[in-house]
Amino acid sequence: MNKAKRRTVIAGNWKMNKTPSETTALINEMKPLVKDADCDVVLCVPFVDIAAAIEASKGSNIRIGAENVHFKESGAYTGEVSAKMLKECGVEYVVIGHSERRQYFGETDQTVNLRTLAALNGGLKAIVCVGETLEQRELGYTETLLKYQTKMALTNVTAEQLKNVIIAYEPVWAIGTGVTATAEQADEGNGFVRSAIEEVYGKDVAETVTVQYGGSMNAKNADELLSKVNVDGGLIGGASLKAEDFSIIVKAANK
Ligand code: 13P
Repeated sequence: MNKAKRRTVIAGNWKMNKTPSETTALINEMKPLVKDADCDVVLCVPFVDIAAAIEASKGSNIRIGAENVHFKESGAYTGEVSAKMLKECGVEYVVIGHSERRQYFGETDQTVNLRTLAALNGGLKAIVCVGETLEQRELGYTETLLKYQTKMALTNVTAEQLKNVIIAYEPVWAIGTGVTATAEQADEGNGFVRSAIEEVYGKDVAETVTVQYGGSMNAKNADELLSKVNVDGGLIGGASLKAEDFSIIVKAANK
């Protein structure tokens, strides 16, 4: 297992937080703190904050992502945003299938797959989220579920397109709860994701895919989580809303 074969990516997922003016202020605060990062630094922000985020991050090493994308290029889909629209705004990444979307907005493995294909076909990098609930973990379904969700999300994604896919393992019970998976649990979950990729695309390809951990990653636990062989970065919620905390996580990834 060779961690050097893949990029480490630290991404913030702001969720439904920050107005455009708050976005400008936060990115201006973050820029000097993360400028020496030895990993990719991404901030995924609400649609209405994208213009401010792109403007504020200009000339820096911060890349901007969205938090969702629709699977059609255009049409009668009130309230939705296409990959083409995001791309034209300067967006490079998009979070797909976050557990909050699966839980509150009827996102399914099928729609996650369609959105992933739309993002890739539209020239965006997809950060695809998978993860088990506490109940599923306690029933012993973690491995089966993570492999299923990963394979479903990647249906019809070619090995070439996979170069633009990041998978984020986010155990639902660890999101926003302050309960972090232990470094061993994170490594194991990420390992299940990687074996699912290996089963479809082979070992050589699987070793090159960035698999992030997400779920209460913070300035204190990032070091240990990121030291694990299968943890190639983080998808960070709460701690990505604080410049100092986020920069400490970025620095932990540099080691
Ligand atoms: P928290 O870091 O707030 O637990 O959120 C994790 C997450 O859902 C990132 O997508």
